[in-house]
Amino acid sequence: MQTLRDLPALRASILALRRDGKSVALVPTMGALHDGHMALVEEGRRRAKHVVVSIFVNPRQFGPNEDLDAYPRREATDAHMLQEAGVDILWAPTVDVMYPAGFSTNISLSGVTEGLDGAARPGHFDGVATVVTKLFNQVQPDVALFGEKDYQQLTVIRQMVIDLNLPVEIVGLPTQRAEDGLALSSRNTYLTEEERKQALALPRALGEAKRQMEKGASVDSALAKAIAMLANHGFDPIDYVTLCDAATLEPMTVLDRPARLLGAAKMGGTRLIDNIAVDPA
Ligand code: PAF
Repeated sequence: MQTLRDLPALRASILALRRDGKSVALVPTMGALHDGHMALVEEGRRRAKHVVVSIFVNPRQFGPNEDLDAYPRREATDAHMLQEAGVDILWAPTVDVMYPAGFSTNISLSGVTEGLDGAARPGHFDGVATVVTKLFNQVQPDVALFGEKDYQQLTVIRQMVIDLNLPVEIVGLPTQRAEDGLALSSRNTYLTEEERKQALALPRALGEAKRQMEKGASVDSALAKAIAMLANHGFDPIDYVTLCDAATLEPMTVLDRPARLLGAAKMGGTRLIDNIAVDPA
């Protein structure tokens, strides 16, 4: 595996990988890799001849009071995992390579970015859309893989690829969970032992609300119970627990089409997100 940090080296290596029409998959990450990322890598290997993984903790997608400085960085461990998994290139640009002096472009979507995390984290999806567009232009992958844990992010990227006619196939993979059900996330490392136990209330509250709605309970009452359960387990603040159209993310008050139930709340200092599919009878 080659670890590359500058664009001319990346371009030359991608050109070499592509020789004889060979395909390339990209798994964009911010590092601190876990089994969720590794499942994306595995799927990338099934779908393309070569796999590139990017590790870049993107400052533009963090708000001023968020965890940019604290975000876990452990490139040596990550590189070892990627090497073992048969990755061809680790693309790990510096901030100066990604955003050289004078950088002035911002990719901003309306619609799908407006609610949920878009409302709770102003500017977050501009940062995501801008860096993902740059990563696509840098690596020029045939296929790019993202986890459904960041469901709104996946929806935003799908929309952006359609809107900008980007020549890349987007593949979303189901959320990987710990045995007890907590969604895997690099941010789980911030949780204390006690917070880690209480955090389980998030997947459980969403799971219970899904069961109730699919049995015919009203959306409002199921959401209210889920919010109460999170509050009882010490989540504070609760940014949202909302049922949305699975494709457009428009809020839903009646379960009459395929939906996604999404939640975001803070446990101690750690903001956790999770989501599950909810299907009408
Ligand atoms: O999901 C992430 O890790 C990041 O948001 C991404 C897609 C790598 C963009 O920085």
